[in-house]
Amino acid sequence: MYTKSSPEAYDQDLSMAVDMLRERVARAPEMALILGSGLGGLAEAASNTTVVNGGDIPGYPASTVEGHEGRLIFGMLEDTSVVFVQGRVHLYEGYPVQTLTMPVRLVHALGAEQMVVTNSAGGINRTFQPGTLMLITGHLNVAFASPGVGAGVAPWHRANADAEELEGDYYDAAWTDRAERAALDLGVDVRRGVYAWMLGPNYETPAEIRALDRMGADAVGMSTVPEVLQAQMLGMQVVGLSTITNPAAGLAAGELDHDDVLDVGQRVRGDLMTLVRRIVRVAEG
Ligand code: HPA
Repeated sequence: MYTKSSPEAYDQDLSMAVDMLRERVARAPEMALILGSGLGGLAEAASNTTVVNGGDIPGYPASTVEGHEGRLIFGMLEDTSVVFVQGRVHLYEGYPVQTLTMPVRLVHALGAEQMVVTNSAGGINRTFQPGTLMLITGHLNVAFASPGVGAGVAPWHRANADAEELEGDYYDAAWTDRAERAALDLGVDVRRGVYAWMLGPNYETPAEIRALDRMGADAVGMSTVPEVLQAQMLGMQVVGLSTITNPAAGLAAGELDHDDVLDVGQRVRGDLMTLVRRIVRVAEG
């Protein structure tokens, strides 16, 4: 099924989508902000916004999760022309990974060279309480999927690339450092860590969390890595930010509940917004 030669070749409609959006949007975005569940409100901080529903964009993946309708919100944030990607689609919804990363290819085609990707995640690192904000410094692809599979030789298939160099490629180390310093200056507590991408849609078992812990994961979630892999293939600069909403399975008494995830997201919204604005501000233009 996937025999095309480039990721863009999956998007027969991409040029139509780009043409349509160029007509509707006054300024090309320099940066994309991918918003995780419960974080959709971050877009409210932008000014001069133009909202485009995913359903109006040719080839745009439609979320099957109620209340998660995909939208692109173009606007200005911290003197930067940005586009918010609201209502992301997950691999567990049944789309090929190439389809769910279409919004990344789209915003890149429109001009975005930088991407801030946010998510909610379970904390594996015992020192991460619910509400901890974590800059992502590396990931574990435990869903074993990639938008690069079947799309020709992906750029990370480099011989002998050392692991540290590759991690730096995925999450921009200098931008992340500047974001961390800016956060600490503002008194926003931010940590660093490794994010593990699991397929979902179920939360993990305690046994899986023990395994991920031994593998070096600090946090676990069901998103982000596909977008980051896609952005890396396109040469975009990326910063990743997780909000730890709960102790991962088996690390605290009680059941994991999607409502708790949303509640914690609400509680740290102020710090998160401050941090996201700083991340945008300290990007190299
Ligand atoms: N596991 C997976 N995804 C999540 C979690 C979790 O514990 N919390 C928020 N998203």
